[in-house]
Amino acid sequence: MNDAQTLAAHVLKGLSAPQKALSSAWFYDDEGSRLFQRIMALPEYYLTRLEHSLLIDRAEEIAHTISPNREPLDLIELGSGDGEKTLSLCRTLHDRDVDCVYRPMDVSAHALAELSRRFDSHLPRMALKPLLGDYFEHWPAVSPRRRSVAMLLGSNLGNFDEGGALGLLRRVHSQLREGDGLLLGLDLVKDPHVLQAAYDDAEGVTAAFNLNLLRRLNRELGMDFALDRFSHYASYCPLEGVARSFLVSKADQVVTSRNLQHSFDFRCGETIFTEQSQKYTPQSIEQLAQRSGFRNSQVLTDERQWYALAIWHRPADA
Ligand code: AVJ
Repeated sequence: MNDAQTLAAHVLKGLSAPQKALSSAWFYDDEGSRLFQRIMALPEYYLTRLEHSLLIDRAEEIAHTISPNREPLDLIELGSGDGEKTLSLCRTLHDRDVDCVYRPMDVSAHALAELSRRFDSHLPRMALKPLLGDYFEHWPAVSPRRRSVAMLLGSNLGNFDEGGALGLLRRVHSQLREGDGLLLGLDLVKDPHVLQAAYDDAEGVTAAFNLNLLRRLNRELGMDFALDRFSHYASYCPLEGVARSFLVSKADQVVTSRNLQHSFDFRCGETIFTEQSQKYTPQSIEQLAQRSGFRNSQVLTDERQWYALAIWHRPADA
């Protein structure tokens, strides 16, 4: 199935359900990727900056944990984007003389081209093997001589529900061998005001990011969403430790898709659930490792304990 057909099926199902829902996986068209770049620079969106600082400030510790005796590594990044935050870790590994092949994976050819340019100018001697594709379907061919370390950064795991997250972690587990590692960037539970603001910023960039999904459906499925007739609503729930985003219909209205030959009714106040972002605690990180067959080796956090880098490994089979 091509992308357009996958999207069509997703929208037909998602907008026909009693609780309308669309997956945040569809946010990232060109405009969505640009808006996400702006989100990462927002004062309220601390995640990216904290993760980046941890990767820079703690690069030595990370390098030591994933390659204590300078073992050769295949560093496989799932959803690398343009590789900006991974560059420092790669430089540290390179400086430690670790024989390392960096294998970034991404669905965006544009992001991988940026990444190649970045590494060519800043770390030209690093072995770089980018792979264009979805990490649910593809996995790089690694050398039996190297230890694999997979990386899933940006708290991207938080976008999956519990079953989805476990499914992804078990898939990664099945691709790794005994002793291989997994480096996860995870956003931590904190003051709900801080989390609320992170997903509903004052400038309205997150609102534009959420609403851009409707613009994409207009373009790709011939829909007629009026963007000014929907609003962004985000809410963090401390009981579950999850931030959820919705698009709210401001009126009773009918939206039609030319491509689908189908229309959808919206009541005034009705919501489309578009994103969840799970937040973690040291205990929930430990539990997630156990349930997906990993062992937690180390959790690095900043001094306020707002963000974590968890380093796991696949243990010997029991
Ligand atoms: C890229 C999925 C980690 O959930 O924090 C940012 C996406 N959504 N603001 C997140 C996002 C709204 C982001 N992730």
